[in-house]
Amino acid sequence: MSKSLQAIRGMNDILPEQTPLWRYFEDRVARLLDGYGYRQIRMPIVEFTELFKRSIGEVTDIVEKEMYTFADRNGDSLTLRPEGTAACVRAVLEHGLAGGGQTQKLWYIGPMFRHERPQKGRYRQFHQIGVEVFNIDGPDIDAELIILTWRLWELLGIRDAVSLELNSLGTSAARAVYREALVEYLTARAEQLDEDSRRRLTSNPLRVLDSKSPETQALLADAPKLADYLDDESQVHFDGLKARLDAAGVPYVINPKLVRGLDYYSKTVFEWVTDRLGAQGTVCAGGRYDGLVEQMGGKPTPGVGFAMGIERLVLLIETLDKVPAEIARQVDVYLCALGEPAELAALALAERLRDRLPALRLQVNAGSGSFKSQLKKADKSGALYALVMGEDELARQVVGCKPLRGQGEQQSIAWTALADHLATCALQA
Ligand code: HAM
Repeated sequence: MSKSLQAIRGMNDILPEQTPLWRYFEDRVARLLDGYGYRQIRMPIVEFTELFKRSIGEVTDIVEKEMYTFADRNGDSLTLRPEGTAACVRAVLEHGLAGGGQTQKLWYIGPMFRHERPQKGRYRQFHQIGVEVFNIDGPDIDAELIILTWRLWELLGIRDAVSLELNSLGTSAARAVYREALVEYLTARAEQLDEDSRRRLTSNPLRVLDSKSPETQALLADAPKLADYLDDESQVHFDGLKARLDAAGVPYVINPKLVRGLDYYSKTVFEWVTDRLGAQGTVCAGGRYDGLVEQMGGKPTPGVGFAMGIERLVLLIETLDKVPAEIARQVDVYLCALGEPAELAALALAERLRDRLPALRLQVNAGSGSFKSQLKKADKSGALYALVMGEDELARQVVGCKPLRGQGEQQSIAWTALADHLATCALQA
């Protein structure tokens, strides 16, 4: 196939074998969020470029190198969203959802786009489920967000494979004081810094803390520590969060170097990481962004949230062999019919079964074929039972009910008794 007719590198088709696990995952998360009182919001995939520059920060990897930006036909600069928080804040502001101090607990799901170097767990189109809360400034809500993800890991059977890293970035005033001390320390040692860090030293010095260069990391060992510059308000907030996580039994590790790659954070930041996926081990990440709404033209409005990467979590569920057996089966019953009179009767019977058993996943053979080939398709579909209707069954108003997974002998069942029969054997399996 010519390259221009293939999918774009880093942008994947999610194939029919994979979608049951995706749907299971998405459904689990949606139900969990419903249970905690979060409501879904859906934002556009494309926004004005300015939105992301203003919120994520001009001097971040995302804005500097990773955005899919283009001019539309009016000449406006538009960008495929690289994340969800910016658009969510925009929507909240635009529709006055947080006006008058009202609380909003929102979630969203969808594709995000970043022009990163693709590798396992890192794609150019990837999918997030994100949660954002507005107008609650205490650590109780930071704790709730973390506790609900902790519950999710349990529901998915992956709790043992993830751990929580936590840090506080302090208020922006405290961070400014720290930034000055850090810049002073690093400037005196600038010639020992890697190139990226030297550039960041003037543009975004806190990002030097998560430099990948071992030399820079060695240099940072004696650098001023953010924790020593935390203002009282942030310290009290952080202590409150830790006390709540302790009370709920959620284990965590304080990582003083955790700064996150987006500029809007203040106070709490956190990441759920796993060592089971190789280099791309962060499966869920977020934090507080109390200044963002104001920075985007709104009234001061505290905000906090996180986003999880669906590809990475699906991969983790597969890696740990935690795909539930029941989602592998897509069909309960496969109905075979031979000859047109039997086909017509089978079709009508199938519709009556659907009326009686809406939860039944019933596939009717299409494309005719011999009984043998139809039974082969029935088997391949993964169904538990094949129903068989030929001339003889039609005349007697019965179907043959053939177990396909070794649950006993074929039985002849009257059409009138079929729904009750399937309700017990196929639906409760
Ligand atoms: P983020 O850390 O950029 O934060 O992304 C959140 C998660 O999305 C990551 O932890 C990872 O699981 C997934 N992810 C990010 N980039 C990729 C990629 N290229 N391929 C696959 N998965 C990826 C945010 O996006 C913030 N908006 C989170 C947030 C919400 N903070 C507050 N509210």
